[in-house]
Amino acid sequence: TRPIGVAVLGMGNVGTEVVRILTDNAHDLRARVGAPVELRGVSVRDLSRPRGGIASSLLTDDPLSLVTRDDVDIVVELIGGIEPPRTLIRTALQAGKSVVTANKALMAVHSGELSEAAATSNVDLYFEAAVAGAIPVIRPLTQSLAGDHVNRVAGIVNGTTNFILSAMDETGADYADALAEAGRLGYAEADPTADVEGHDAAAKAAILASIAFHSRVVAGDVYCEGITKITSEDLAAAKKFDCTVKLLAICERIDADGVEKVSARVYPALVPLDHPLATVNGAFNAVVVEAENAGRLMFYGQGAGGDPTASAVLGDLVMAARNRVYSGRGPLESTYASLPIASIDDV
Ligand code: NDP
Ligand code: HSE
Repeated sequence: TRPIGVAVLGMGNVGTEVVRILTDNAHDLRARVGAPVELRGVSVRDLSRPRGGIASSLLTDDPLSLVTRDDVDIVVELIGGIEPPRTLIRTALQAGKSVVTANKALMAVHSGELSEAAATSNVDLYFEAAVAGAIPVIRPLTQSLAGDHVNRVAGIVNGTTNFILSAMDETGADYADALAEAGRLGYAEADPTADVEGHDAAAKAAILASIAFHSRVVAGDVYCEGITKITSEDLAAAKKFDCTVKLLAICERIDADGVEKVSARVYPALVPLDHPLATVNGAFNAVVVEAENAGRLMFYGQGAGGDPTASAVLGDLVMAARNRVYSGRGPLESTYASLPIASIDDV
């Protein structure tokens, strides 16, 4: 079968891990996709920086040429921000490439135009990694719950701020030290203002509200308050009321004077210690979905960081690759179920 060519744009916290998994897991990916998945090139801004684990012949500082190459089928955008990603993704889609992105800032504003470009070219545009890192929330909302009626999606969707609040609460860490540590660990955005001011969570809320309520919510529609004014004294006061403070994103259908509307908001809130969200600490995220028939579902896991985010990116990549090879069907399970079955004596 013809190989699937992949271009990765950006080799930072997430891109580095995506390239590593593509290389290390090439054998498994081939079996799951039904064709070899081959890295055609990786674009970076600064070619002079050392990049371990990748042949220099694969590196380029010209992403536009890379995304339009004939031997590229899927473009993985991991640069971040609005431009150049918006132009690069639109160009890739118009050239018939499928696109996978982790870019919530972009998808929270321009998903409409990009989805239209994808539909016009009949290719995929996937963005599972854009919300809550490794946690599958986009696919459950768009596929598993497609036949239900979702009323509410709420939770902790920013790892950096949750890491900072947890550190301040648990060890009395200083806000600035905790923020610096979140940056070192690869959780924070290139400009962490987006995290601490709540804009990153607001972008994710816009994406969640759009897909949960089949609506078109953009980042600017989301009421947004960050954690910059939260002090250790606030956390200590919360404890006296058996509460902690979490930055929550809340998206829900509301009745505004008889008219059904979508409300999306992000703000630090008091959460009772016996609530499941109170135990979500560090860079972990959790999203609670309430649907008419499914009832309450909770999704929990690592919400930020290179490896967890790369996992979600690779999941989208496999789906997009399968769609190109098998028109959505993917290889039969028997073609890759190669592990022997253990007997009880092996355990
Ligand atoms: P980084 O800042 O670590 O990496 C960005 C990469 O893009 C770098 O390789 C950089 O090149 C390259 N780049 C930056 N600006 C440009 C430009 N103008 N033109 C071309 N290349 C450029 O970002 P992350 O890996 O942390 O994040 C990537 C994306 O994933 C973002 O959209 C982010 O919001 C999203 N995301 C991140 C998560 C995380 O935990 N970090 C989790 C979920 C989503 P160079 O290396 O030369 O500087
Ligand atoms: N900066 C983001 C966060 C990365 O801390 O949650 C994951 O989207």
